[in-house]
Amino acid sequence: MAKTIGAPRGTRDLLPEATPAWDRVEAVARDLSRRYAFDRIEIPLFERVELFARGLGESSDAVEKEMFRVGGARGSEEERAEWALRPEPTAGIVRAFIEHGMHVRPGPLRLTMIGPMFRYDRPQAGRYRQFTQWDVEVLGDAGPAVDAELIELAMRFYRDVGLSDAVARVNSIGDAACRPAYRQALVDYFTGHVERLTDDSRRRLEVNPLRVLDDKALPEDLADGAPRASDHLCADCRAHFRTVLDLLDGLGVRHVVDHRLVRGLDYYTRTAFEFVIAGREGQQQALGGGGRYDGLAELLGGRSTPGIGFGIGLDRTVLAMEEQGIALPPPPAVVAVVGTGDDHADRLRVAATLRDAGLAVRPDGTSRKLGKQLESAAKAGARWAAIIGEELAAGEVILRDLETGEQRPVAADQLVEAITGRSASVDDAMRSR
Ligand code: HAM
Repeated sequence: MAKTIGAPRGTRDLLPEATPAWDRVEAVARDLSRRYAFDRIEIPLFERVELFARGLGESSDAVEKEMFRVGGARGSEEERAEWALRPEPTAGIVRAFIEHGMHVRPGPLRLTMIGPMFRYDRPQAGRYRQFTQWDVEVLGDAGPAVDAELIELAMRFYRDVGLSDAVARVNSIGDAACRPAYRQALVDYFTGHVERLTDDSRRRLEVNPLRVLDDKALPEDLADGAPRASDHLCADCRAHFRTVLDLLDGLGVRHVVDHRLVRGLDYYTRTAFEFVIAGREGQQQALGGGGRYDGLAELLGGRSTPGIGFGIGLDRTVLAMEEQGIALPPPPAVVAVVGTGDDHADRLRVAATLRDAGLAVRPDGTSRKLGKQLESAAKAGARWAAIIGEELAAGEVILRDLETGEQRPVAADQLVEAITGRSASVDDAMRSR
């Protein structure tokens, strides 16, 4: 036998038993996107490396360590260095906003997408090389209300998928006016303790000192004593942040101010936030995160446009749902259509009629013995079997309840009613369509 080929490291196949949870989180994300009046946008899976380097920052992990480079087989080294699979969608969405002159549209623009992202990181539980985000972005609104609205939206998402104890960690990391002084305060402080920093942090101290706070290995006392962004905010940033916190209080959104929260991408200004399960802050990677990026459009060559958004990791959301044992709605009840001999035309016709009424149907395509067909329908999880036999000549089929084994003849034109009238789960399945 030929050697088998496995899936690439850090990727996963989602087999049918895993996909109902994904259907659920995607359905909740789409429903909330509609209710919060977001429009769908799609962007390419790969972009110029330069877009990410400029947008997310050369020193961000996503660019420095985790770029997933792509290039054609015939491309030169240079050409191949030019492209990367998207590690996140914000830079691409802002690129599209600029490229298509979307600033002339009536704003603020509310854009959303769900799709795979790629980071060439060391894989572990909850960290994959291909993962999926639900992303939302608002472009053209500088005020604090939208910050609170988006945090409330994300928290509503976690609640609607059934997760308890999600909490928003929020911080403000200032803007172009006040960040330089805060940066300098961090450099001064950490330079005095450089012997206690990891190699990674020493490097960060030079390129992006805020990210030293992000180092998981930073000693607790050193972190606690570090200058806080909130003490270095300019008056505008402080007022903005205060209002965001007041609005969150007013909305009853569970949140904590986390002075160490700086986020791993360089485009952020002012409000930054992450979502975690309460009590698991230390161990668990964030279920989602985002923030304001008022300078990004300009950085990418567009006109100055404020922006804010978040990305929710659907893989980690599904993992958290599994950990919390969240029950999923039952799958739609399936009707098997079975028969005898070569009556496939009849089976397919009956199946089509049931499908017209919205039912899920699997006709048996074999000519096995009836008993075998019923057995495999039950094993496959079908709830009923419509058995086609000689009664069809008189306009009837046999409807068998595969759970109880009861069966009775039903007029073919009453079949849908006989099935839907009998089962709450079918009613539910039909109602949720
Ligand atoms: P991020 O924090 O890099 O932000 O990613 C958002 C979420 O994606 C994370 O909280 C996590 O749930 C998930 N995630 C990230 N990396 C992985 C991975 N390797 N495996 C599994 N899940 C992962 C952004 O990407 C920003 N674009 C968010 C944003 C939108 N900010 C403004 N607008």
